[in-house]
Amino acid sequence: MEILQRPDEMQQWVRGQRRSGACIGLVPTMGFFHDGHLSLMRLAAQHADTVVVSLFVNPTQFAPNEDLDRYPRDFERDMLMLRREQVAAVFAPTPELMYPPGFQTEVRVQHLTKYLCGRTRPHHFAGVTTVVTKLFNIVQPDVAVFGEKDYQQLAIIRRFVTDLNLPIRIIGGPIVREDDGLAMSSRNANLDRSHRASALSLSTGIGLARDLYRQGERKAMTIATAVQRHILSFPHTSIDYVSLIDSRNLDPVEQVDVHTMLALAVHIDGKVRLIDNGLLVPIKKEE
Ligand code: PAJ
Repeated sequence: MEILQRPDEMQQWVRGQRRSGACIGLVPTMGFFHDGHLSLMRLAAQHADTVVVSLFVNPTQFAPNEDLDRYPRDFERDMLMLRREQVAAVFAPTPELMYPPGFQTEVRVQHLTKYLCGRTRPHHFAGVTTVVTKLFNIVQPDVAVFGEKDYQQLAIIRRFVTDLNLPIRIIGGPIVREDDGLAMSSRNANLDRSHRASALSLSTGIGLARDLYRQGERKAMTIATAVQRHILSFPHTSIDYVSLIDSRNLDPVEQVDVHTMLALAVHIDGKVRLIDNGLLVPIKKEE
């Protein structure tokens, strides 16, 4: 497995792969891998001959008051995990290599970035779309794989890839969960035992919304209120948003139906911000 740090080295390496006719798959990550990340690498291997993983904790998608400094990192452990996967190369640049002095360009999606996570994190998605554009230009993949755990991020990436005519197929991978239902996240490492119990309020909140739907409830407000109460009944929780949206365009809905998704963002003890989502009528394997 090649480990490359410099954008020009990466571009050169991938040019060599392309010459031999390989289809390139990219999985962008910020590292501290868990099974959710690994599932995306395996999905990429099904769609590409050569899988490249990028590992870069992108500073521009964190606001000054957010957890950039506390974001978990362990490069050696990550490399050990990657060596067991079908990954041909890792692109792991430094912030200085990605944002050299004089850098001043931004890629920004307009409408989709204003709601859900974009309301409390107004600059976050411009950081994501800018770094992902750079990663796409550096790795020049044919396909790129992103998780449905970050459902809004996936929708925004699909949008700019379409809008900018990028010749890259975007594939979404399903959410991977712990046995008790907690969606895997690198940030779970920052939860202590009591906080972890409270973190379960997100996935059980999705379960509650599904129960209400099965019982015939169709008013979004009623379901959202019940989920909010449920989450707040756990200690240390505060809600960023509990939203019922149309999974096809992320618009809020008043009446729920089979396309409705519950999207959640919750702070645990004011420090760890967790997100989760689920369709009210789950696709079979997720139930
Ligand atoms: P990161 O949080 O490291 O996530 C990397 C990829 O893994 C994302 O596509 C995310 O949706 C996916 N992922 C995370 N948890 C998952 C889970 N439990 N199941 C399935 N997939 C999961 O998302 C980012 O990094 C960054 O914003 C990035 C796109 C790399 C840009 O900096």
